[in-house]
Amino acid sequence: MDKIKIRGGNQLNGKIYISGAKNAALPLICASLLTKESIRLTNMPILSDIKSLNSLLEVLGTKIEEKTELKSGFESKTYTYTTDKFDSLVAPYDYVRKMRASYYVLGPLLAREGYVELSLPGGCAIGARPMDIHLNSLELMGAKIEIKNGYVVADAKNGLTAAHIIFPKASVGATCNVLMAATLAKGTTKIENAAKEPEIADLIDLLTKMGAKIEGRNTSILTIEGVKELKSAEHEVVADRIEAGSYAIAAAITKGRIELVNAKSEHLQTPLNILRNMDIKIIEKPQSVVVDARNALMQGQDIMTDYYPGFPTDLQAQFMALMTVVPGASMVTENIWENRFMHVPELMRMGANINIHGYASAIVRGVKKLSGAPVMATDLRASFALVLAGLVAEGETVVNRVYHLDRGYERLEEKLKAVGADIERVKEED
Ligand code: UD1
Repeated sequence: MDKIKIRGGNQLNGKIYISGAKNAALPLICASLLTKESIRLTNMPILSDIKSLNSLLEVLGTKIEEKTELKSGFESKTYTYTTDKFDSLVAPYDYVRKMRASYYVLGPLLAREGYVELSLPGGCAIGARPMDIHLNSLELMGAKIEIKNGYVVADAKNGLTAAHIIFPKASVGATCNVLMAATLAKGTTKIENAAKEPEIADLIDLLTKMGAKIEGRNTSILTIEGVKELKSAEHEVVADRIEAGSYAIAAAITKGRIELVNAKSEHLQTPLNILRNMDIKIIEKPQSVVVDARNALMQGQDIMTDYYPGFPTDLQAQFMALMTVVPGASMVTENIWENRFMHVPELMRMGANINIHGYASAIVRGVKKLSGAPVMATDLRASFALVLAGLVAEGETVVNRVYHLDRGYERLEEKLKAVGADIERVKEED
């Protein structure tokens, strides 16, 4: 298993290209299942999660063409997906287990073929992650749903019909799944309390190009008028706001200056405002965001995760890493996931002063320095938090279980090395 070795203390300066968003790309790939024509996706990130989902689509019968292209001087992928017919309507355990977002095949398969068997993904390191909102909504649209041998068996032989659905929580996954299902359902579906994350707007943009009729983009009420069929389209994946936010914190923690090329500042307003409160200069440009922390007199800040446009839960661990070395106290409250402080014991092994209160809050008191240590994390964003701590710690930090990082951070060590980090990947046999 590969490891990442970091020698801390370097100030980071320069430019980092922000890749296409993983969490946008995953539902976009599955939207291609809604049509027998080809869907071309550009600015796709090069990540193991994308490869896993591509393998699942190949099992279902999708033909995938891959091309490498240059965008702002950086390599990105273009994939063309064509599913003229299905070889299978079963998403097996071995695929879903590797990548939870495989559940995005549910809505499209049910809408186009009227049947799907999907292995239940189960829990994961950041909580129970139920699917009840997805399944209850599809039942309201006429699907018969049973759980058999660990699989969701969903049947809508006579097609899905429109429904008025009120989500109990603004779930990103359920919003994407129901949106995709509703594009081909009979009648007009209304979703209330839909999620408003930018990745959903990106999905709506592709579906609209494919011929779907959707109103309410960027709002919590979505109205979808079902159509008979969808057609071929091309779409550029939106920039990854979580990758951009993660590197913004890399600039902050090393008191450096990084230009995040291709980042969209409008998708990052809440985290950028926290950095501004810490005296960090943020310059928003049309094609990039500059984060300049060289002369910042940082002080602790309180953060509370929330649905978009609130503070993203996927940046909570990284902000906590920053707070460990900023003078003063910071309170970090996690409101989305019930088990998302797994990085705390690892940060404490590096010398951080953190007290967890109950299940959802932690007080971080800034320390003068962290010291390098071998560490490991149980999820993707927590792993990046340990990389951040390593960038500023004295001595060497070795981050184990790099496969978490490879799921969501494209060419991490290459990007960080280019701005001055002393970082390398150590290949190890299993
Ligand atoms: C997506 C992101 C993930 C991010 C999360 C919240 C992807 C692939 N993943 O995950 O990185 O942390 O949004 O921004 O895009 N819930 C239910 N029942 C359901 C579905 C969700 O109770 O059927 C609850 C969850 O337990 C959680 C909350 O709703 O407490 C939000 O979950 P959701 O928005 O669905 O997250 P994901 O789409 O899984």
